[in-house]
Amino acid sequence: MTSEIVSVIGGKETSNGAAYESVNPARVEEVVARVRLADASTFSSACRSAAAAQREWARVPAPVRGRVIASIGRLVEANAEELARLVTREIGKPYAEALGEVREIVDTCDFFLGEGRRLYGQTVPSEMPDKNLFTFRVPVGVAAVITAGNFPVAVPSWYLVPALLCGNAVVWKPAEYAAASAHALYRLFTAAGLPDGVLNLVLADGAATFEGLEAALAEGTVHKVGFTGSTEVGRRVGELCGRHLQSPCLELGGKNPMVVMPDADLDLAVEGALFAGFGTAGQRCTSLGTVIVHESVHDEFLSRYARAVAGATIGDPAGDVLCGPLLDRKFAARYEEYLGWIQPHHTVVSGPTGRITPDNPRGGFTGEGGLYYHPVVVDGVRPGDRLFLEETFGPIVGVTPFGTLDEAVDLANLPGYGLSSSIYTTDPASAFRFREGIGAGMVSVNNSTSGAEAHLPFGGNGKSGNGSRQSGVWVLDQFTRWQAMNWDHSGRLQKAQMDVAEIVPDLDFRL
Ligand code: UN1
Repeated sequence: MTSEIVSVIGGKETSNGAAYESVNPARVEEVVARVRLADASTFSSACRSAAAAQREWARVPAPVRGRVIASIGRLVEANAEELARLVTREIGKPYAEALGEVREIVDTCDFFLGEGRRLYGQTVPSEMPDKNLFTFRVPVGVAAVITAGNFPVAVPSWYLVPALLCGNAVVWKPAEYAAASAHALYRLFTAAGLPDGVLNLVLADGAATFEGLEAALAEGTVHKVGFTGSTEVGRRVGELCGRHLQSPCLELGGKNPMVVMPDADLDLAVEGALFAGFGTAGQRCTSLGTVIVHESVHDEFLSRYARAVAGATIGDPAGDVLCGPLLDRKFAARYEEYLGWIQPHHTVVSGPTGRITPDNPRGGFTGEGGLYYHPVVVDGVRPGDRLFLEETFGPIVGVTPFGTLDEAVDLANLPGYGLSSSIYTTDPASAFRFREGIGAGMVSVNNSTSGAEAHLPFGGNGKSGNGSRQSGVWVLDQFTRWQAMNWDHSGRLQKAQMDVAEIVPDLDFRL
């Protein structure tokens, strides 16, 4: 069954706009949703609706907003299989992972429902008597949230849940190719009782969104931008926000390294590298980029890794597979460009590359009309190679040898991203030295680069972001601003720094 999906602004559907089809990447002939894409002025009008709804929403006591978040969590949980099946159908994420993604929304709601009863401010001592100082967390206003489609429901919830809990209104622009999943999540949020206009869904392409956002920032109807996507677009969003004196929450790409030390449990490292490299068909921002492996275990690691990749199942994401298809045609085309970065000095140790077709099958699997690609492991990747330096969103992992831990840390930092990282070692000293030296926002020890839990700070540095953090208590600083209040009840004007009692010490005192 194919549904038509449209933007919803102030609780009303807006059915004009250009036609777009969201297709099932496992069977590209199958249309999952017919979508109407809004123009720039629809985006900016959504921001006006949000701004109008926000004041009332901010007046709802935070514990009551927390109850709404609790209801969202329950609704998502009650619809988990249905939502996960839709995610699998629309973006080709293997069902077990899609179910995990839905679980991540519930985890996020579980965390923030209680935050409604905390959202602590502070009482702070004054330097003068009969005066009290306080801090309050104040909602920012309207958050414009622009998300990618590789995590079409979990990553949006990292923005939507805390933003709404903190008393903000939201305009959410999901990826077009994940419109049906986004629309389903939107409906679950509104079923929890959000007033009209507090959460608005705008389906639009990148150009219209950028133009609409520019207008909304100029009008003063957007006060925070959350963006998850490529480094390239993140730079443009950051520049635009900077011109309006705003700092966005940016969650960008990664070239996530995995260091394998000589003392590592190699089977564990192989298992981690398999999931990190090829889970979600390598299309997580936290996916493994390069395995940086000690020269003494390089050959052994590589042969075990190649064997594990050869044994992995690729196929219909509704089944029990490691890898489904790529997200969408656009991603498949870009991935084919990355395959062009493989050079004569590289050795592909995983077998055939490219799209899986009857002419280029993977064993008995011929691709069945989907955007399926062979998983690729490339040995001999050198620090100057594009394959080493740039993100390659898709199922391709490079392998580079190293001699000393310091060298491994330098190699791991070289691409200039800084999202996730991992080290496999049995020596605590190596693990901590790696943690100190790595520029990434997230460090795994004996674990995959991907798969962060929903209540630790998530975010990156360098080309991976501007240092903003999502998740847990840390994201509250994205969606609230601190307000400082002082209250003098002495009945006179007490001047700070001037009317302060002084206790005179004898600084010449010596024992
Ligand atoms: C992303 O790819 O944008 O840590 C986020 C992970 C997931 C989130 C990935 N929990 O791999």
